[in-house]
Parts: sequence; structure tokens; C-alpha cells
Amino acid sequence: MKKATARAHANIALAKYWGKRDEALILPYFDSLSVTLDAFFTTTSVEFSDVFEEDSLELDGEIFRAGEKEFDRLLAPLSHIREQSGVAESMRAVSKNDVPTAAGLASSASGTAAFVMAAAAAAGLNVSSKELSILARMGSGSASRSLFGGFAQWHAGTQNDGSDSFAEQLVEQDEWPEFRVVACIVSKKQKKVASRAGMKQTVATSPLYEGWKQQAPLDVAAMKQALAAKDFTTLGQIAESSFAQLHATMLSTNPPILYMAPASVEVINTIWAARETGEFEGYITMDAGPQVKIFCLAHDVEAISTAVSAVSGVQEVVVSSVGPDPTLLSEHLF
Ligand code: DP6
Repeated sequence: MKKATARAHANIALAKYWGKRDEALILPYFDSLSVTLDAFFTTTSVEFSDVFEEDSLELDGEIFRAGEKEFDRLLAPLSHIREQSGVAESMRAVSKNDVPTAAGLASSASGTAAFVMAAAAAAGLNVSSKELSILARMGSGSASRSLFGGFAQWHAGTQNDGSDSFAEQLVEQDEWPEFRVVACIVSKKQKKVASRAGMKQTVATSPLYEGWKQQAPLDVAAMKQALAAKDFTTLGQIAESSFAQLHATMLSTNPPILYMAPASVEVINTIWAARETGEFEGYITMDAGPQVKIFCLAHDVEAISTAVSAVSGVQEVVVSSVGPDPTLLSEHLF
């Protein structure tokens, strides 16, 4: 039977990716670095069979077909998997997001990573994590990093065909058991500007992008050193700077892109004020949406959760530790 199920976890970038040098292959301008999250994951079952009339993806109960956004992200990896395996039958995929909250945190990375792992296995392909990371990248850039637990670096690469643009694990899941991410959900609405369209516009119009492009490789190199030394303060400072550079280039895009909601700004100010007085040590990050994520160590989780829960507009606080590698499961969703 050509059927397999995989589970992959979401990741959050400490050093951000924003902007493609090749849009079709999804090749970034610079490396990024992320932590995989234990609390957020996607499980996906894929089957190839003549029984199915057409390819489809059922995502949390809703069905998508070719031509629809959620499905189209999977087209490039799927066609490569078909090419490499010779599998010609139609595909059915069923996917379930396990996030402790209704919305607000990106599931496209975990979803795409779980999909390529399940689809490759269902097609009988025996491929390495590196090759799976390349396949996931073709679906969504940040998904390349969800092929690894712990901390991972996505190498931008230099080749035009993308053969050297994949993620690699830097630190395993159990190597930093005290590391935490506190996610503050401030809005459950869909994002106003999708990251794909947003980053394209930033590259085309932001006068600040060139400067960030020069700085990003230096940040990644310094971050790798801090990570190897488990130097949380240095890691947090560079991560917060990468967040600031990302959102500065977003805001300097024409037309400007602003993902921050009033409550996001309140959370940021709360964390910064408490850090200044030495109450706790947390570092801010945000992606293409209003949720604020705080990097911290286990001993500060309670104080940080209490402080951000008191901010008006914060709907939910979710704490995650470092997540595992993706895995194949023997139980299928259909
Ligand atoms: C802000 O990976 O969602 O989260 O490659 O177009 O699918 P595509 O974009 P996506 O962008 C993620 C951008 C980010 C930063 C990051 O995760 O590094």
C-alpha cells in the first residue's frame, strides 16, 4: 500500500528569513536559524491510489484541490516526489494541526514538512533529511527547517538549482532542556499580508533591505557561536535584533507592512521594562503576524507568563520547549 503518515513540528526563527533570490525554487538571500517547537505540530497522512479521482488535501476538515492556495504550496514538492519515484496515481492527503490554540501561529512550516516526509515515504522513496529539507523548501521556505528537531540553520546556498539550499541541525532537542518559547496570542484573525507577497514587496521597495542583507550573515555566525556555548543572553540579543531588522524592513516597504497590533507593542514594552529592572530575561520575536513570542529559560517562564497575561488584548499564552525531529507514524489519519 502506498500510504504513510508523518508528524513534524513548527519552528520559530531566531535569525529571520525574508526575501527570495529565486521565487520559483524558493531560494533565500541569506541563511536563517530556528528552534523547533514541541507544543506545535502537524500530522499528515498521504496515500497514492487509482481509487482517488484527483489529488486533494484535507486540512483540519476542509478540502483543497489544485488551484487553491493551501494545496498549491505542495505542488512543487509533490511533482518532484512523483518524478523521482515514478508514482503516477492520484494522491489523497489528510492533515491535522495540533496547536493548543485556534489560530495565530504558523502551521505552514510543520504542515509542509509533515507532507513531504509522508508523501516521500508513501511513494517508496528512500531519501535523506537533507533531501526532504530541499523538498519542503520548495513548498515553503521556513518548512526546510522543520525537518529537524532542536535548532537548525537553513543554508541559503549559492547554486541556481537550489541543490545547496537546505537546513541542517545545529543542536539536538535534548541539548538545551531549559530553553523555552512563550507565545502570546493577541489576535486570531488571518494575517493582512501573506508572507510570500509581503517579502516580495520588501525586496522590491525597502531601502533598508540591502543593509539587512549585509548584516544577516554576521548575525547568523554570531548566533551559532552563542548557541554552541549555550550563551542565552547573546543569543537572545541577536535574535531580538534580527526581529527588529525584519520588522523595520517590513515597515519601510512601499506600501508599508505593519504586523504589530496595539497589544503586541504592549507585550514588547512589558518585556523590555522587566528586563531592564532585572525582573526576568526574555527576548522578543515576531513573524508575519501580531503574535509575540518570547525566548527565555525555564526559570523565568512563570514570571513572564504572568506579566504578559496581564496585558490587555493578550488572549492566550502558550509555552513550548524545544521540539523533536519529525517522525513516521504507523497510525494513519484515514
Ligand atoms: C517571517 O516560509 O512562510 O516567518 O517561503 O514564501 O512560503 P514562503 O514564506 P514563509 O516565510 C516565513 C517568514 C518568517 C520568518 C522565518 O520564519 O524565518
